Amino acid sequence: MKLFDVYPLYDITPVKGEDVFVQDDQGTTYLDLYGGHAVISIGHSHPKYTAAISEQVKKLGFYSNAIINPLQVELAQKLGALSACDDYELFLCNSGAEANENALKLASFQTGNSRVIAFKNAFHGRTSAAVAATDNKNINAPINAQHQVTFLELGDIDSLQQELQKGDVCAVIVEFIQGVGGLDEASAAFYEQANTLCKENNTLFIADEIQCGYGRTGDFFAFQKYDVSPDIISIAKGMGNGFPVAGILIHPSIEAKHGMLGTTFGGNHLACAAAIAVLDVMKEEELMKNVGETSAYFLEKAKSVPGIKKIKGRGLMLGLEFDFEVGDLRKKLIYDHHIFTGGSSNKKLLRILPPLSVKKEHIDSFFEALKKVIS
Ligand SMILES: Cc1ncc(COP(=O)(O)O)c(C=O)c1O
Repeated sequence: MKLFDVYPLYDITPVKGEDVFVQDDQGTTYLDLYGGHAVISIGHSHPKYTAAISEQVKKLGFYSNAIINPLQVELAQKLGALSACDDYELFLCNSGAEANENALKLASFQTGNSRVIAFKNAFHGRTSAAVAATDNKNINAPINAQHQVTFLELGDIDSLQQELQKGDVCAVIVEFIQGVGGLDEASAAFYEQANTLCKENNTLFIADEIQCGYGRTGDFFAFQKYDVSPDIISIAKGMGNGFPVAGILIHPSIEAKHGMLGTTFGGNHLACAAAIAVLDVMKEEELMKNVGETSAYFLEKAKSVPGIKKIKGRGLMLGLEFDFEVGDLRKKLIYDHHIFTGGSSNKKLLRILPPLSVKKEHIDSFFEALKKVIS
């Protein structure tokens, strides 16, 4: 059987990973400043993480959500403590799109409405309502057009107010720093007013923290820089360091009812063991502090590079904008200098999404290579 060919591939076959490095089948080592699309949080194959998963699978890998799973409770407690969101409640699922799908569904249950407000350039995933709230016609099929979604400019508070006052909106969903769209952010005033407007108009405010959350900005969540209290927070990517696990944090004002959400695999024993190990390592190794330090170092070094028009993002979710498209630059960084970086729908933006354990010496290697490529 052949694979359904939906991914354009780089001609590289990684077979091993260690911290910020991956090694391919030819023995070449690559510096991973992409983290497999912002997924690797504590570093590839961290010994505590591999031990926790190995030990758990020897005991019990899976049982359904019809039994008591103390690992889910431990995960919820540790997540609440590290994120400072311990008053929220946790629903576990398997992927980012599924997290947003559940968030939107819950918003619709809660408000009785069905229209969603999302923002231009947003990316929320590829499933039914999540893809409908994604501003990319190419990945929306006719079947997704059944959803009612209105796209507004990120930052346009007047239009948001007008739409919310119509009274038919179940959710406003926003990435506090847009990922795939190219690292755009709105002002504190916009986010804070949007939060208030939602509360005044029976609309849930959903923070999609799938890419910008889980320590990536140096805060646990990107929204925590602002005075906002999302009704639902969606998480995935860094949560499992590569193990497929995701979830939504739900404000206690939303009441759970048996059967309203559910999943077969979500929150299984193995996924919980992976996610608990990630939180333990983040705490023990003070990775959010490391994000602040290495980010400041990166930003300082970026200033001295000629040709960079704009530096975008926060923490270790960074973008360098050039006045040319970066496709060739990325290829040269990979094939000539063995460094993975990311692209975005803004073709002139090079994205940097390393494991949160990245060190200054790795940033040095990147800038040495970048200067050689663009000189
Ligand atoms: C902000 C954001 N939301 C949702 C998703 C979808 O996550 P997944 O690919 O795990 O379904 C992504 C993936 O890139 C994302 O960046």
